[in-house]
Amino acid sequence: MRKPLIAGNWKMYKTPKESLAFLNEFLPLVRDHAAHDITLFPTMSSLGYVIEAVKGTNVSAGAQTMHWLNEGPYTGQTSPTMLASISCTHVMLGHSERRIYANETDDMVNWKLKAALAHNLIPIVCVGESQEKRQSGLTEAVLNWQIACALNGIRPEHAGPIVIAYEPIWAIGTGSVATPDQVSEAHAIIRREVAVRLGKHSAERMRILYGGSVKPENIAKLMVEPEIDGVLVGGASLDPHSFAQLIHNSV
Ligand code: G3P
Repeated sequence: MRKPLIAGNWKMYKTPKESLAFLNEFLPLVRDHAAHDITLFPTMSSLGYVIEAVKGTNVSAGAQTMHWLNEGPYTGQTSPTMLASISCTHVMLGHSERRIYANETDDMVNWKLKAALAHNLIPIVCVGESQEKRQSGLTEAVLNWQIACALNGIRPEHAGPIVIAYEPIWAIGTGSVATPDQVSEAHAIIRREVAVRLGKHSAERMRILYGGSVKPENIAKLMVEPEIDGVLVGGASLDPHSFAQLIHNSV
């Protein structure tokens, strides 16, 4: 009942020219793939080009971040209205790299989530604990807190499009993928907290993705877990053949 989503987060990689070169190779490789939703998150400078290039295909595109206001004197920011105006369909919120390097707070993630829903953008809310918190036995507390803050004031009837991505910071870009058991346990914690905030029905419908060192070689073991509704891939989404292989291996 939850269609899995495989998303590629290109972070600060690829010029518009490189993004289009990727799509030229990638789109034919996944053209017949209907088992999963596929979404790419290019940089802001490539986003408009990528959106145009994927029109009419089974691939969609989203922004890696956005502001929560529609316009204003906020140098360097992009608003939800601006994303909607270029037919952007998805937006990633609260990625740990945004939380760490751009001081994105839990409150900001909550404001952005409300703005995304108001503009019909599909939000992917990223949560996840640091190595230190995990070693101190605080994984559950961190996840519950991040989910509770993100969902504060969201009504169940508006929650349908929300996607959560569990990205433990210690697994991002490190090659140390979390084990399927660790991921399932974290996803169960997240789903329980979503149920507390939004009710059981919303929790059962919500897609929860895993992100952190997902590769073509380890995707199959993750995707067999019933709690894992897809993945958010960094490094392995940068090469069209590797990302297509990862997608094919996840069936
Ligand atoms: O958003 C995806 C991410 O942070 C995981 O990155 O390179 O470990 O797949 P990576």
